[in-house]
Amino acid sequence: MGSRSPFDALVDAYDAARPTYPDRLFADLERLAGRPVAGADVVEVGAGTGIATRRLLDLGARVVPVDLGAAMLTRLRERTPGIPAVLGDAEALPLRSGVADLVCFAQAWHWVRVPVAAAEVARVLRPGGSLAVWWNDVDAEDERWWRRQQERLEAMSPGYRREYRTRPYAEELRWTGHFAEVLTLGGRWRRRLDIDTYLTWLRSKSYVAAIGDRQEDFLDAERRSMLRTFPDGIVEEPFRTLLVVARRP
Ligand SMILES: C[S@@+](CC[C@H](N)C(=O)[O-])C[C@H]1O[C@@H](n2cnc3c(N)ncnc32)[C@H](O)[C@@H]1O
Repeated sequence: MGSRSPFDALVDAYDAARPTYPDRLFADLERLAGRPVAGADVVEVGAGTGIATRRLLDLGARVVPVDLGAAMLTRLRERTPGIPAVLGDAEALPLRSGVADLVCFAQAWHWVRVPVAAAEVARVLRPGGSLAVWWNDVDAEDERWWRRQQERLEAMSPGYRREYRTRPYAEELRWTGHFAEVLTLGGRWRRRLDIDTYLTWLRSKSYVAAIGDRQEDFLDAERRSMLRTFPDGIVEEPFRTLLVVARRP
């Protein structure tokens, strides 16, 4: 049977080049959720290879990672032996009701149907518990290299539109009626990485994989474009984080 996750085929690139999340995001999460991560029972859905899982564990949470992708979870288990990772779907969580203080989706909430997944999250949360969803988005709309890249993606990757990053996630959660309070915070940060790691990061994206036979043409064009902007081969990549926390009554 084929994988249910488009990321299973990308696991090596994912693991090698995806960015982690800044410390401030976890401090903001604690502030908006009104409780420390330390000691919390956390269900982390769409956990992938465990980039956010490891941060939550380091902060002292008990974490149950869930993902649709068997290969992603295999890598997560290799990195964190003994963790109780579960193969499962956000829209039908294989968990009992009322077991979690926090349910987290790091870079994963845009993959679910919101009304279905929100109902599942509300079922799994304890009263007063919170759903936290967050993203790292490249914050380079003013940069020519970014606009060129987005134009190439929109031309080459079927269905890709840069606007997917600007969905009204907080409003969508309010509209579900499952949450008493929905709060949001953002932050900015940067990372520096060499051009080869940058291209691996592009390869880890499902919409770059979706280019298919012309993926190498896309990556060659990206290499040329990035080296024009960053001639020493060190890319400076600006990010903004978006965090939305929704509290269950
Ligand atoms: C962009 S990756 C994010 C991985 C990880 N959270 C991180 O921060 O790097 C999205 C993950 O969501 C998973 N995913 C997508 N739809 C899902 C669903 N309906 N239920 C569970 N996991 C899902 C994918 O398999 C993938 O591992």
